[in-house]
Amino acid sequence: MKRHLISAADLTRDDALLILDTAEEMARVANRPIKKLPTLRGRTVVNLFFEDSTRTRISFEAAAKRLSADVINFSAKGSSVSKGESLKDTALTLEAMGADAVVIRHHASGAPHRLATSGWINGSVVNAGDGTHEHPTQALLDAFTMRRHLAGAPDGGPTHHKGPGDGTGRDLAGRRITIVGDVLHSRVARSNVHLLNTLGAEVTLVAPPTLLPIGVETWPCEVSYDLDSVLAKSDAVMMLRVQNERMNAAFFPTEREYARRYGLDATRMAALPGHAIVMHPGPMNRGMEITAEVADSERCTAVEQVGNGVSVRMAVLYLLLGGNEPALSENRTEENK
Ligand code: NCD
Repeated sequence: MKRHLISAADLTRDDALLILDTAEEMARVANRPIKKLPTLRGRTVVNLFFEDSTRTRISFEAAAKRLSADVINFSAKGSSVSKGESLKDTALTLEAMGADAVVIRHHASGAPHRLATSGWINGSVVNAGDGTHEHPTQALLDAFTMRRHLAGAPDGGPTHHKGPGDGTGRDLAGRRITIVGDVLHSRVARSNVHLLNTLGAEVTLVAPPTLLPIGVETWPCEVSYDLDSVLAKSDAVMMLRVQNERMNAAFFPTEREYARRYGLDATRMAALPGHAIVMHPGPMNRGMEITAEVADSERCTAVEQVGNGVSVRMAVLYLLLGGNEPALSENRTEENK
């Protein structure tokens, strides 16, 4: 693996599978009475958040703490950033404090890449969401969740598994994933398209034409404007939040019209195959892209995705910072010391 995680597009199939397999090991830690490993003791992870976040920031914090790293949370609000301090000066400050990894969320697409290539800091950079560009750890936790539900499902599972995968169920070969909604503003969608393609899945984007990015025809996926026509052949449907805060124009007539054409309600959910799951990265706009009934149904994995996020981020931090030591050999766990 590289030193930084900036884009899901940078991950090879082997990198992605290594992260997902390591995350499965990490998930076992969560089931122990003491949810902690000493692996990153003495290392410092800084969470540098220039944009609002609930689950991603908490998730990275929990992941770093479970690996015994020291965690510094920096949010732009209330910091010198609001006095006009530049990304460079902030980075130099973090470097002076000895940050081994900087987890950055920024409203500008490309900020994590700038941080990683600038020479301002020596540690690893992890992109926790940059503008409308990428959110690689979200795609990894989504893939982790899909793999648990869909890969190699013994029964009730998909029967069309003919993809190029290795047949071991480690990847998502031949699985059909439908991503619905505000693709234009979604870093989650972009990262998912890259990663799912790398893992052998077949992705279909469904959105009104106004909410698709320019150049989407070059992405490795299909595009449809008709949600009802793709439901029956979807193994997972991922609903995207309508990102009102990034909209400076009218992208659809009314919220009701949007919900009617592109929202997931119980009737549409019933059109999915029995094994299919409903996903949402959160935060959800209940009543907009997803009805409360669907959000609260057993088939919706939104809460499970949050839990899986901690395991996946532990795996990423471990692989970027922890080096070659075995993560989980029994005599290295806190409880056995
Ligand atoms: C997403 C994000 O921030 O990009 N949320 C998340 O990380 N859980 C999606 C969104 O904001 O809609």
